[in-house]
Amino acid sequence: MDTEFLKQEILRLKREKNAVILGHYYQRDEIQALSDYVGDSLALAQKAQQCENDIIVFCGVHFMAETAKILNPSRKVLLPDVTATCSLAECCPGEDFARFKAQYPDYMVISYVNCSAEIKAMSDLICTSGNAEKLVRALPEDQKIIFAPDRNLGGYINRVTGREMVLWDGCCTVHDALRAESVLKLKAEYPGVPVVAHPECRKELLDVADFVGSTKAMLTYIQNSPSDTIIVGTERGILYEMQQANPGKRFIPVSSPDGRPCECGYMKQNTLENLYACLRDETPEIIMSDEIIEKAKKPIIRMLEMSKQLGIIK
Ligand code: 13P
Ligand code: SF4
Repeated sequence: MDTEFLKQEILRLKREKNAVILGHYYQRDEIQALSDYVGDSLALAQKAQQCENDIIVFCGVHFMAETAKILNPSRKVLLPDVTATCSLAECCPGEDFARFKAQYPDYMVISYVNCSAEIKAMSDLICTSGNAEKLVRALPEDQKIIFAPDRNLGGYINRVTGREMVLWDGCCTVHDALRAESVLKLKAEYPGVPVVAHPECRKELLDVADFVGSTKAMLTYIQNSPSDTIIVGTERGILYEMQQANPGKRFIPVSSPDGRPCECGYMKQNTLENLYACLRDETPEIIMSDEIIEKAKKPIIRMLEMSKQLGIIK
């Protein structure tokens, strides 16, 4: 179908059905351009919670759409491709995690939002990469903590806070594929150019980055950086927003050692075609039981409340 026709139809259906499109920074350029709000996981969760539209079309991955449904269950939440999952959510099955958790009876469970609703329901507090460090710092120093499912983000938080959280051994296969050597090569090619990286990357890579933060935090860093060139260690979809917000700057993405671009296949499963079909047919819809919504909601609300108290969000 013609791209221009699809765009016009998406906008028409959105108006007619009182729908809002929430898009993550890793979505395809054309989807970010059509979204009403583009943001990181934390901002999008908050937007979803506050949303008064009848329909939320979540252009992101499954756990993000699930989080939107949990926070605003009376809305119809649609995900253009319902099979768009996440390697982090997949690496932490509920039954295995329940057994792991049982080994640490007096520990608090902090789960990264990149996990299933089932894991959230077993957690005491949820975090995103945008608030993880501050949330952990706000907890009593002697608090014993299990952190799941990302060993890279958890390890990073352990290093910067001096904590010894027990980590679930999972990772984002997209970020974990990037290597410090690739960054060092780019640094040699572009002397003095700062490197930003997402905390889902390996320790060795984070050690050679100038700034580590969530998608939103990297964007803020770039906006304030005097450098006109930046090396970017994260999913390349974010280059769209980086370029939009900083038309005069140049962004150099870090690729895998085999030359593959840093691209999340799950995020790219949403296309203009399935976004159009999803708005037209109002499916695939995120359907969850009241029980799981109630259980998973508690640690997410705790995250949002703590984030407000700590001044991370308004
Ligand atoms: P952010 O919360 O930084 O947007 O990250 C989400 C994500 O999936 C990173 O891989
Ligand atoms: Fe999941 Fe990694 Fe894709 Fe983010 S980039 S959605 S963590 S697989």
